[in-house]
Amino acid sequence: MAKQDQDSFGRHMYLLPSESFSRFSMVAAVNVSRFEGISMAPPDPTIGVSEAFRASTNERKLDLAVRAYRTEELQPYLLNVVKKAEMLMLERGEHREYLPIEGLAAFNKVTVELLFGVDNPVIKQQRVATVQSISGTGSLRLAAELIERYFPGVKVLMSSPSWSNHKDIFNDARVPWSEYRYYDPKTVGLDFEGMIADIKAAPEGSFVLLQGCAHNPTGIDPTPEQWEKIADVVQEKNHIPFFDVAYQGFASGNLDADASSVRLFAARGMELMVAQSYSKNLGLYAERIGAINVVCSSADAVARVKSQLQRLARPMYSNPPVHGAKIVTNVVGDPDLFNEWRKEMEMMAKRIKSMRRKLYDSLTVKDKSGKDCGDLLDEEYSLPS
Ligand SMILES: Cc1ncc(COP(=O)(O)O)c(C=O)c1O
Repeated sequence: MAKQDQDSFGRHMYLLPSESFSRFSMVAAVNVSRFEGISMAPPDPTIGVSEAFRASTNERKLDLAVRAYRTEELQPYLLNVVKKAEMLMLERGEHREYLPIEGLAAFNKVTVELLFGVDNPVIKQQRVATVQSISGTGSLRLAAELIERYFPGVKVLMSSPSWSNHKDIFNDARVPWSEYRYYDPKTVGLDFEGMIADIKAAPEGSFVLLQGCAHNPTGIDPTPEQWEKIADVVQEKNHIPFFDVAYQGFASGNLDADASSVRLFAARGMELMVAQSYSKNLGLYAERIGAINVVCSSADAVARVKSQLQRLARPMYSNPPVHGAKIVTNVVGDPDLFNEWRKEMEMMAKRIKSMRRKLYDSLTVKDKSGKDCGDLLDEEYSLPS
């Protein structure tokens, strides 16, 4: 039997019984891992479903876990505009030097214009601090770090339910959070009254996490009238709206329509934060391209906020990726490619709608329990999740 002991450094060793070889005896020491105290992390709920999908041999399987666009052949889709942008980059022989901490300046310019619209006063008055970050997730996390450091103890309110990663992002950044009612299983729709009541009841000056369009996981978005009322309460309670925009243009097929919630809040002169992602609408998933935008009441505050976002980003990931940032800049910054992108996006949005329709039809045919599956289609343009 092996005996446990400690060596002179206090390390645990298992001492195996010694064996005698003439004058020498041997002691074999097997170090116990220094990582022994680390237990197995639970599997990610979304990734777990995808793994089960891959493992299944059922020909009729459907992967509804990860919100990623697939072709008829169930393959990932590389947008034509992305191919063209990459050809341009190849021709130009683009370098791979480090970007500044804040990212590619040309990317930051086009991304803020895409979000708010070129002529938006917040841009004209230079009231937006934009920092390119690691797609939507990294942008949310960077903003969470900013909240933790400069608004200690201030809560983030998020919808119940919300994208599964939201809670972990704020937990890991040590930002307290609570939920507001959102999905009502009785009506298979938005619990608008509950949502308003919970936002009203939250401590004044909380951050309110809102999904700009194509709410994940419910697919239910407030109507324009409801957005106005949400903005009323947020303003009344002096809360700070924090938008997560992961599907601009990909939800309705129209970039401006999908940004209208964010623009409505900005038009009221509110300070707000927006995490942006190009994973879905340009199919840049693994390129990790996105940005955090903080709308401030003065250009002076913008400079300070931007400096702190960079200060927080530097020890986390140093600087963001260049390849995808150049793809976005080439597509959004070029009128021809931009128009082509809009058409491609419209095509994808239409196909998503028709897939949802097919799924809904087959579910309602198959569901003999009388259960209403209408939530999949209530908001016409969202993705199932
Ligand atoms: C609501 C929401 N926010 C943010 C993200 C982040 O995506 P990414 O980090 O790939 O940009 C996702 C991805 O599914 C999402 O659904």
